[in-house]
Amino acid sequence: MHVTEPFIEDYLAQLFPEPAGYLKDLRAFAEAEGVPIIDVQVENFLNFFLPLLGAKSILELGTAVGYSASMMARALPDAEITTVELDPDRAVNARTHFQNQNMEDRIHLIVADAAEFIQKDEGSYDFIFIDAAKGQYEIYLRESLRRLAPGGVILMDNVLFHGMLASKKLFKRRKITIVKRLKRLLYRVLRADNLSATVLPVGDGLLLIRRLDG
Ligand SMILES: C[S@@+](CC[C@H](N)C(=O)[O-])C[C@H]1O[C@@H](n2cnc3c(N)ncnc32)[C@H](O)[C@@H]1O
Repeated sequence: MHVTEPFIEDYLAQLFPEPAGYLKDLRAFAEAEGVPIIDVQVENFLNFFLPLLGAKSILELGTAVGYSASMMARALPDAEITTVELDPDRAVNARTHFQNQNMEDRIHLIVADAAEFIQKDEGSYDFIFIDAAKGQYEIYLRESLRRLAPGGVILMDNVLFHGMLASKKLFKRRKITIVKRLKRLLYRVLRADNLSATVLPVGDGLLLIRRLDG
């Protein structure tokens, strides 16, 4: 689900060149398995933004089958990536895909609950990509701010949550807890004195955050 109009998505989809090679097959594999991965427009954004940021160390919460980690590793050939996935079957697939691309030396796959991992982790990261359990985003954010290197950026995917934060028509009652938490998180982050943040209506909504206090 995108937060922009379908006709805009269709136009953008044909505007960019067709992906090729391993990532094309990996996206097709994820789709065939019904595994959600980053939207093509989010991938385009990351391909532009990550080299600009020059990140050397990346933390990703939510590996799935390794698509976004693989594409970030390609965008930043010198970066080390730590990526955390709870589902052991998805992690097995991700490991295979990292090995097939000779990336296993610089993509460190952790099979764990992302919140538990990040609360114990002592790493320092230039870029933190949050794409795991939406109901845990507040915990992920609190801990990510602790682990962010000076000048680093946090990116949260799906913050507009299929349009549910903005539209009563799209809102689903059973998602009320996640919607409430995401609304609270956006409200707080966008008003925090120690943060600079913005929301981009790309894919399902991206929240970008950096610290102003080092
Ligand atoms: C949207 S997918 C990640 C997609 C991936 N970043 C990509 O674009 O290729 C979210 C993943 O988070 C995982 N996940 C859900 N809850 C989790 C948790 N508590 N800890 C770690 N991973 C979790 C899911 O199993 C799923 O594979």
